[in-house]
Amino acid sequence: MTMSSDPEQPLASDGPLTTPGATEDDDSEDLLSPSPASSDTASILSQESAVSERAPSSTKSLEASTIEYIFENDRQYCNETYHMPNDEAEQTRLNILHQLYLLVQDGKFTLAPLTLTRPQATSSSRLSYPSTASSSSRIPRLRILDIGTGPADWAIAMAEQYPAAEVVATDISPALHPESIPSNLFLEIDDATLEWTFAEQFDLIHIRNMADSFPDWPFIFREAYKHLRPGGYIEVCDHAGLESLAALLPNSYISIYTAATQSAAECAGMYSNLPTEKSVAGSAGPAGGSRGPAKGGTLAHLHPHVLEAAGFKNVHVTKLHVPLGTWPKDEQRPDPRRLAMGKMWLIVVLEGLEASSLRRLTRELAWTVDAVRDLCEKTREEIMACHETKRCETEFRAVVAQKPEL
Ligand SMILES: C[S@@+](CC[C@H](N)C(=O)[O-])C[C@H]1O[C@@H](n2cnc3c(N)ncnc32)[C@H](O)[C@@H]1O
Repeated sequence: MTMSSDPEQPLASDGPLTTPGATEDDDSEDLLSPSPASSDTASILSQESAVSERAPSSTKSLEASTIEYIFENDRQYCNETYHMPNDEAEQTRLNILHQLYLLVQDGKFTLAPLTLTRPQATSSSRLSYPSTASSSSRIPRLRILDIGTGPADWAIAMAEQYPAAEVVATDISPALHPESIPSNLFLEIDDATLEWTFAEQFDLIHIRNMADSFPDWPFIFREAYKHLRPGGYIEVCDHAGLESLAALLPNSYISIYTAATQSAAECAGMYSNLPTEKSVAGSAGPAGGSRGPAKGGTLAHLHPHVLEAAGFKNVHVTKLHVPLGTWPKDEQRPDPRRLAMGKMWLIVVLEGLEASSLRRLTRELAWTVDAVRDLCEKTREEIMACHETKRCETEFRAVVAQKPEL
């Protein structure tokens, strides 16, 4: 999908986002990424195809050949510890998920009320850093950071839409990127769980689909706070898992899968280090917040008090409910966008069953590979059998928060 671009306009309004309605020029098919990895996927997408448009410009890419991957149980991993694979099937799943986020967010790449109109270096105290080395202009470039960028769909889209901005995208490993990427995009290998060392601050830091990647979210938010300019924004987006469907089917493989993967994530230390709301209320600044039990599962890090504990203000939470499956076709007034979302989310969920559980369940709960695959298959069959009738929706949440102005 090609987005219109006006560098002087805000990237998005800061008002609440509503689930978009169908419009005459909706073209949901354009949003779908190619190469579904399974037969379920193929049948769901049967007559839909898509072309991803990316203008070639530079080849600033990381050399994937210099990295040693780990092949384990027919999946490729970037290292010994990170639990998700980074093979082609997973990259394709993330490509589809990126397109789904765009659809859910009404075509907006970001919900941050960011403008590309930066103050002049000579006339404003808001500038806390000099212009970038790559820029000869006295007006500093807007700087955007994407943490855990994966296939870099979001970072590439932002760099293309805002050619005057400088976009840095980091990951612990290089993924499959297009051969050429925009010249204002800089892909870097960096582990976000270690102290961040960027020399210049950013205007926007974006973190998406990382719920299960960081055991210490308060650390991530404190580092982000340090590396934002005063007035800059953090945007963190994630989605729930199969909890709502599991709640409708308590005696099912879906509920076993959900409980097992949550338990494995907890064993791996996830959700264990979040401040409680009470502790934040009593804290006195960016480092405030004591350790306490996590609440809210995979979306627990997206509670406003977790960001407030790191010092952020103006926390704005957007919750959207995405249908799982093809049932929106039976709604009273079928909405093509909801139907597209339901299909895409179903594909992402089905393709993610094994990816999300294989390492976690074998390593943390000592399941056998066969037992995990068997559960995934049965869970897949159950989802395919019930998504039309159960009419389940999943919460997608985006939190935008601001580092206070000086
Ligand atoms: C589920 S993917 C999300 C990719 C991307 N943010 C998106 O929304 O498409 C998670 C990514 O985080 C990366 N990752 C995991 N742990 C990380 C860490 N400690 N530092 C940086 N990246 C990390 C993984 O390599 C993977 O590419």
